[in-house]
Amino acid sequence: MPLALDVSDLELRFGGLTALSGVSLQVQQGHIASLIGPNGAGKTSLVNCVTGYYRPTSGRISCYGTDVTGSSPHKAVAAGMARTYQNIELFKGMSVLDNLLLGRHRHLRSGLISGGLYYGRARREELAARAAVEHLIDFLEIAHVRRTPVGLLPYGLQKRVELGRALAVEPRLLLLDEPMAGMNLEEKQDMARFILETREERGVTVLLIEHDMGVVMDISDHVVALEFGRVIGAGTAEQVAQDPRVIAAYLGGQRAEGDGETGASLVGAPQGAPS
Ligand SMILES: Nc1ncnc2c1ncn2[C@@H]1O[C@H](COP(=O)(O)OP(=O)(O)OP(=O)(O)O)[C@@H](O)[C@H]1O
Ligand SMILES: [Mg+2]
Repeated sequence: MPLALDVSDLELRFGGLTALSGVSLQVQQGHIASLIGPNGAGKTSLVNCVTGYYRPTSGRISCYGTDVTGSSPHKAVAAGMARTYQNIELFKGMSVLDNLLLGRHRHLRSGLISGGLYYGRARREELAARAAVEHLIDFLEIAHVRRTPVGLLPYGLQKRVELGRALAVEPRLLLLDEPMAGMNLEEKQDMARFILETREERGVTVLLIEHDMGVVMDISDHVVALEFGRVIGAGTAEQVAQDPRVIAAYLGGQRAEGDGETGASLVGAPQGAPS
């Protein structure tokens, strides 16, 4: 069974700044894997490399056995990936429904010209797209706002629509960059439930960037911790949360004298502020 994601020895430099160095990680098919680490650790940069937004300086990336190293966002979608962004990237003036249909259109095979030539196929695909999007609207419980311009929605619902836009692409690997940042507890619990159901019902593998260790502990099969562009710990959530290097990375700068004894845990510790 090929890995959903296989990153090996990845390096990313911006001029003199090394954002990622010697990063290797694997995500098993069907897993929810979480990427944690303090602000500036390189989490978003890694997702940007994987999804074709950044070209790594060296190293290799493959998705379900397809080499996607240094490819484009378009090729990453073709390989089965979809993502959300740390800062919501939706068309704020357009309705929820239209944002989801746009996400879905990246999945369609009929372009404009072939759409003209093969009206039948284009029409069938359009109807299938509508049905798929209506299904997503039900799944995400956003039927009541389907005609509302996204920009008028509360932030938590916008994040949910962004998940929907990514799911409309019908990915095999979904990369979520802080989908719960800025949410209250109830909104976080809803989002965690949608992520779990996405995996259960749609068989989608998930790589999640998240600062809230409680959420990470609850839903992750595997956790990878980054600091200063390097992997400093990987394993189950319990293993990583108790790893002294990971605890030190998170508490660094905030630690009072006498803290940091063994047996400390990340859960309940001050979290890196979501940005
Ligand atoms: N396009 C870019 N040009 C220059 N430097 C960049 C660029 N993108 C990221 N960096 C730098 O790479 C490092 C890692 O940034 P990145 O955004 O990946 O961190 P992060 O782990 O996602 O942090 P946060 O938790 O704050 O989102 C930072 O030093 C950042 O300034
Ligand atoms: Mg980030």
